[in-house]
Amino acid sequence: MSYEITPTIKDEEVPYKNPSPKFFDAVGGAEGMQELMYSFYEIIYKSDIHNFFPQDKEEFDKVKVKNTKFFVQLCGGPKVYEEESGGMDLDEFMIRVHDDFTINEKARVEWLGCMREALKAYDMDEEIKEDFWQYCDKFSKLTVNQFPKDQEFNPYHS
Ligand code: HEM
Repeated sequence: MSYEITPTIKDEEVPYKNPSPKFFDAVGGAEGMQELMYSFYEIIYKSDIHNFFPQDKEEFDKVKVKNTKFFVQLCGGPKVYEEESGGMDLDEFMIRVHDDFTINEKARVEWLGCMREALKAYDMDEEIKEDFWQYCDKFSKLTVNQFPKDQEFNPYHS
């Protein structure tokens, strides 16, 4: 299992593919996905990026629920997130959700570290887990919206 994190490069195209439905089965369907995502958010809560998320328990729980629904739908389970995105393209909507927050590469790496820790508890076919990880590594790049100044402004580039 690689748990490889590849760097985000500003304006670079990010090819990615949604996780295989095999992951949905391997994790234990909708219930299993809920367990994984709740454990992920427990880890987030103790991480360096906890401040990005609601500090109020009820609000935090709402994010956990929505996030679970999203991942269920994303991985080929029932389309339970559709109502949240108002019928908008799922990927577009998800990028837009993150626009409200200032996310840099450090925050992304911390987020991926939390996901890695949550996934480590699962004993499943490595190829299936790797496929899910690849989605996380790639799609998370699209949530990054703050870059170091030197990448934004290059005086030598016309
Ligand atoms: C593969 C990458 C990612 C996916 C699929 C993802 C997915 C989601 C989903 C489904 C939600 C809930 C949206 C809703 O309200 O319906 C959410 C919210 C959020 N995500 Fe992500 N996320 C990703 C990466 C990240 C990263 C790297 C960060 C960095 C800090 C982040 C921070 C947040 C924050 C702050 C919220 C909103 C919490 C709130 O509503 O107050 N996400 N994300």
